[in-house]
Formats: sequence, structure tokens, C-alpha cells
Amino acid sequence: MSTTGATKMIRVEGPAALPPDDVLFGCSAAMEEVRQKALKISRTNVPILLTGAGGTGKEVLARWIHAHSSQASGEFVKVNCAAIPGSLLESELFGHEKGAFTGATAAKPGRVEAAHQGTLFLDEIGDLDSGLQSKLLHFLQDGFFSRLGDSSERIVDARVICSSGKRLEEEISAGRFRADLYYRINVVKITMPKLADRRSDIPRLAEFFRRMHAEQFAKQCEPFGPEIMNYLQNLAWPGNLRELSNCMARYIVIGPESLTQREPARSKPGLTIPGSGAAGPVPLKRVAKDAIREMERNAIIEALRANHWNRRKAAQELKISYRSLIYKIRDAGLIVKRSQIGP
Ligand SMILES: Nc1ncnc2c1ncn2[C@@H]1O[C@H](COP(=O)(O)OP(=O)(O)OP(=O)(O)O)[C@@H](O)[C@H]1O
Ligand SMILES: [Mg+2]
Repeated sequence: MSTTGATKMIRVEGPAALPPDDVLFGCSAAMEEVRQKALKISRTNVPILLTGAGGTGKEVLARWIHAHSSQASGEFVKVNCAAIPGSLLESELFGHEKGAFTGATAAKPGRVEAAHQGTLFLDEIGDLDSGLQSKLLHFLQDGFFSRLGDSSERIVDARVICSSGKRLEEEISAGRFRADLYYRINVVKITMPKLADRRSDIPRLAEFFRRMHAEQFAKQCEPFGPEIMNYLQNLAWPGNLRELSNCMARYIVIGPESLTQREPARSKPGLTIPGSGAAGPVPLKRVAKDAIREMERNAIIEALRANHWNRRKAAQELKISYRSLIYKIRDAGLIVKRSQIGP
């Protein structure tokens, strides 16, 4: 990774690094709200609940809050409640004494103890089983807990951040999540917006991931031109930032053709969804016309791809004028009108 400008990562404790703030929070209104809340609460000790769809950056925000908290010198301890089977999770969280269960050959402190004077990040808290929900509630009420097989109580002072991709209110209604635990962890809730709700951040994020993966795979890669950026800004991104990051990794490894396998999600004037169209029988004339358009469209894609999306060079290769290519690109519904790309 370059160490200059916007791509510099801030290393916090542990294996993960944080993107710089201008990348992490971007410039969208949705993320400005997140930034304001995160700034206000980072230096207080209130429990935080981070919600939002998969890949929206809940863990990244939890790490940012820890790095900007008064416990930043303590550990950031992540426990993935969905990944560890219930039977093991209790001992993982709260630790055990020697002989507490078959195989407990030595005493072991839990993750809660490791988070003393740091941050305990309970990822996917909605997956915690009911027995553990009670024990966690007890711990959150006063900081007391006991290791498995130990009757004495210990006390830990840790900031607790929980995350959930599941809607906890629905889990409560379905009887799977304790309402009292919900109120305890949900003192401040921050909901991470979907990438589709913060499209103005896509160029900066795409550029960040492009540079990051170029460094990771030791590949040279030119910054994106306005057409690719525009194309990326119009995709659906159901997998949010994780999907964008993976998409940029594929772009670095495979090349621009990896992008043409994607389908834009939004219909904007001048941008049509490839492959879309009315269902039902189609007249023969229309079939032929569509086939020609499809061949032309593929030839344009090939030329653009071969020329790194440079339209002037692609036009030369196709032996048509630059202006005709622009019209054809627009007519083929490939990318967008020139006016939407900007000067
Ligand atoms: N604001 C951001 N700026 C740059 N990269 C980000 C940002 N948010 C998330 N990422 C990257 O996107 C990916 C997903 O982020 P993260 O794991 O924090 O999401 P999540 O909401 O916890 O996802 P899940 O619910 O699937 O666990 C990671 O690779 C992370 O580094
Ligand atoms: Mg996560």
C-alpha cells in the first residue's frame, strides 16, 4: 500500500488496520450521520449496538471507535457469536477452571478478561443462545462474571460494542432474544447504511480498494476513468463494501473484463440494464436487429477493454469516429450519456 495521501492506513492493535477517516466515513450524508454519532460516543463508555447489512463496515466502525476511545491502549477483543458453537462459546467468553469439563486440563481466562480496560466486540450478538444471553446480561449489569467451574465472581471493566446483522427487534418478537439484554446493549445504536444508499462514496472507496489490492497482488493498475467509476456507481452492490472490495481484487487480478460480467442495478436515463427487455415472443426482424446490436456491443466492449476504456483509442481501433463511438456506447446502453460522465 502506498503510504501517501488517502490510502494511508492507520494501524491499530491486532491484525486489522483502519482505512483513513476520509475513506472510512466518505462524504455521503448517510455516513456523515454515522461519523457524528461515532465521534460523540467514542470517548464515553456507553454500550453501542452496530446494526446493518453484511459487509457494510460494522466491524471497521467498531475498531475505529475503539481506536478513538479512552481505552485505545487496551485490547480490542472480537468474539464472533455466530462462528463459535454455543457449547464452546461460554468457555471462550468467560473462561474456565481446570477440570470444569472433559478436556479442560488447565485453567483458561476468557475473552471477557482479555478485554479488561479495552473493548469487547460481540459480533453477531443475535446468534447468542439463551443461556449465554442471561450470563452476558449479568456481566453487562455490573461487570461481574464467573469462569466455568468456578463459583467465585470476577470483575472486568470493558467497553462493550455489539453488532448484529439480524433485526434484534424481530428476534425478540420471535422469542429468540431477551428484551432486557437488548435494552442493555442498545444504549446507542448506529445503523450502517447500505453501499447503495451512499453511492457518492463509491469512487473514493473503489479507488482505495484498487490501490490496496494492487499493492497486495504487486500489480500495476491505472486509476479508473470516469466511465468505469460511473459504471461502478450504478451497480446494485448487495454485498456492500465487502463486495466492492472483492470486485476491485478481481479487477486487479483478472482485468477490466471482470467488470463487464456485472449488471447495473439502477435504471437511469441513458443507462440500460444489459440483458433486460420484455419477455414473450419476439418478431424475426427484431431478433436479427438485436443480434447485430449484440455483436456490435461486444465489439465495442472488446475495443474499450483492449484500450483500457479509452474511448478515443477504441474508436481508432474500430475505425469509426470518436463521436460515433460515443453514440454507439449510449445506444447500446453500455455505459452512460456523455453529459452524465462530465467533461
Ligand atoms: N468505511 C470503510 N472504508 C473502507 N473499507 C471498509 C469500510 N467499511 C468496511 N470496509 C471493508 O469492507 C469489508 C467488510 O467490512 P466489515 O467486516 O467491517 O463489515 P461487517 O458489516 O462487519 O460485515 P458482516 O456483517 O458480513 O460481518 C472489510 O474488508 C472492510 O475492511
Ligand atoms: Mg462483521
